[in-house]
Amino acid sequence: MENELRQLLAEVQARLLGVNVLADLEVVRIEVLGRKGKLAELLKGLAVLDINEKKVIGVVANEVKMGIERAFAEVEDKLSAAAVLAKNESEWLDMTMPGVTPEVGHTHLTTQAIEDITNIFAHLGFVRARHPEVDWDYYAFEAMNMPSDHPARDDWETFFVKGEKGVKGKMVLTPHTSNGQVREMEKGVFPIRMISIGKCFRRQADVRHLPSFYQFEGLVIDKKASVTELKGVCDYFAKSYFGPDRVTRLRPYHFRFTEPSFELDVSCSVCSGTGKVDGVKCKLCKEGWLELGGAGMVHPNVIKAGGLDPDEYSGFAFGWGVERTMMMRAGLNIDDIRILYKNDLRFIRQF
Ligand code: DAH
Repeated sequence: MENELRQLLAEVQARLLGVNVLADLEVVRIEVLGRKGKLAELLKGLAVLDINEKKVIGVVANEVKMGIERAFAEVEDKLSAAAVLAKNESEWLDMTMPGVTPEVGHTHLTTQAIEDITNIFAHLGFVRARHPEVDWDYYAFEAMNMPSDHPARDDWETFFVKGEKGVKGKMVLTPHTSNGQVREMEKGVFPIRMISIGKCFRRQADVRHLPSFYQFEGLVIDKKASVTELKGVCDYFAKSYFGPDRVTRLRPYHFRFTEPSFELDVSCSVCSGTGKVDGVKCKLCKEGWLELGGAGMVHPNVIKAGGLDPDEYSGFAFGWGVERTMMMRAGLNIDDIRILYKNDLRFIRQF
């Protein structure tokens, strides 16, 4: 029996030389050391031995068992280390290798302009507001002192939405952001310092006009609003947005919803408001000024439409195109404004 035991050890040691994967090692282990394995079978022979033989064989059996276990442990260590090495090898990554940079986009230049404009007015206490871009005729025109048969309405070539007339007229795609004025007053929180930026729509599409564009509408309603403040706000905006050396001028104009009304001009960046460069007429502005948009003191009828007494409250307002303003700053000499929204990345990526 002693021989058989020693033979088993030799046999196992020889077998293990041929085992190269952990899974095979497990098979052999069960075969040899399992409950019904070879060692267990051999040790059943102990039962028939007498006490002295049992003592001797018991020692040998123990030695053999430990020998077998050591052999398994050695092979297991060897194979596990090899497995780890192989895994490391297959997953090896050079952390110092330059990576593949994912393409990072950026906001559209109109969005950038909207953010810049919002921030500038925020410094003056103007709060960004949003109003419907599809709205009742009432807010777009009627409440803005333009009754339904008024010819001035033709200046806003409006898209009407199909459908029944409601109490507040038909629905329109807002042709300007001025619809926000009375809506803001209806909220009933005074004084108002609002900057409402939104999409506008008009029946127009050519190199200088888009059927869908953005405007920003400023509105101040307070107990004593003045033209001086309007001018101050315009100057502050022009200097912040276009540069500290720029100045503005208010030129008399006519709008139904303001009295007095103005067009706001900004001094030209090329000729600094002189209209001439080296004695020659400025090519950009021709006369020293670039037109930004409309402004004025809110008409008493509009204040009334907002539910206020024009003897108590007054206000000023302005409405300028975002794209136009932005192009004036960048000095963008775009010969077709529609390129802004053509999603041509060669153009967009420049900003
Ligand atoms: N809503 C006018 C337009 O679209 C612009 C405008 C002019 C807005 C004067 C105003 C204003 O608030 O006071 O042409």
